[in-house]
Amino acid sequence: MTFRASHLLGIEHLAPDEITAVLDLADTYVALNRSDAKHSDALAGLTQINMFFESSTRTQASFELAGKRLGADVMSMQMQASSIRKGETLIDTALTLNAMRPDLLVVRHPHSGAVDLLAQKVNCAVLNAGDGRHEHPTQALLDALTIRRAKGRLHRLTVAICGDIAHSRVARSNILLLGKMEARIRLVGPPTLMPAGIADWGVEVTDDMAKGLAGADVVMMLRLQRERMDGAFIPSEREYYHRFGLDARKLAHAAPDAIVMHPGPMNRGVEIDGTLADDINRSVIQEQVEMGVAVRMAAMDLLARNLQAARAA
Ligand code: NCD
Repeated sequence: MTFRASHLLGIEHLAPDEITAVLDLADTYVALNRSDAKHSDALAGLTQINMFFESSTRTQASFELAGKRLGADVMSMQMQASSIRKGETLIDTALTLNAMRPDLLVVRHPHSGAVDLLAQKVNCAVLNAGDGRHEHPTQALLDALTIRRAKGRLHRLTVAICGDIAHSRVARSNILLLGKMEARIRLVGPPTLMPAGIADWGVEVTDDMAKGLAGADVVMMLRLQRERMDGAFIPSEREYYHRFGLDARKLAHAAPDAIVMHPGPMNRGVEIDGTLADDINRSVIQEQVEMGVAVRMAAMDLLARNLQAARAA
């Protein structure tokens, strides 16, 4: 088995061959999802519980659909309405759900590291659907699948990741994944939105969009994550859009066939021009959403196989 992990907590723990295993299996699920039947029994008999302690549209819908298409029994908890409100700790909630014998737990939580902690307390496979500003592994995997299908490879591509890097778990997971797969990474954004210690990450960093995008094969835009900002990180949205917002003029610095990506949700007119985001000749934003379902099917399928093998041993 190439995929050895028992949880998907972050890209940090995956080896390149494990990343490739997820992407290869996901390719087959893209084909299934494009067929009429859209159904397999890979997770038949298994129970998947989704626990989202932070709001989510695409990630939650995508995990739910992925589980259903593979035949799992899927339950999405309304965490805002749950006992968490009554002061029950994350661990107590996890142990309660664990007693119901789930096989897959999908967790999104506002605190970095919360999902890792939870994984140590339960005996099922745990998937991190985003923890604070730490990691969002399935997002990086779906981005990689989108890039690989558009460009035919990941190695030696130049990928510009632009905007609010400091608050972005998407950026962190993508930097880790693209680094492992030997892509060249450039981070572009104002110094106030770069994480501390960025100089040690072994990636190029610039605050000049023209320089950062020059010849890039992939331009990945990030949302300004105001909910994670305590104070003023940018002078104004207008000024930010002027310097860092992606429009056709700035994109002209990239390779002529460069693709434009955004994990969503988008702030049109803040980090990206709305017309460009909708331009199907450049933007692969809708493909990213499609790849999201397939990648989550692949990740849950591989984890379930390992879980069942471990239980049988
Ligand atoms: C991202 C997230 O939640 O981290 N969204 C997503 O999962 N598609 C990015 C964001 O919120 O900006």
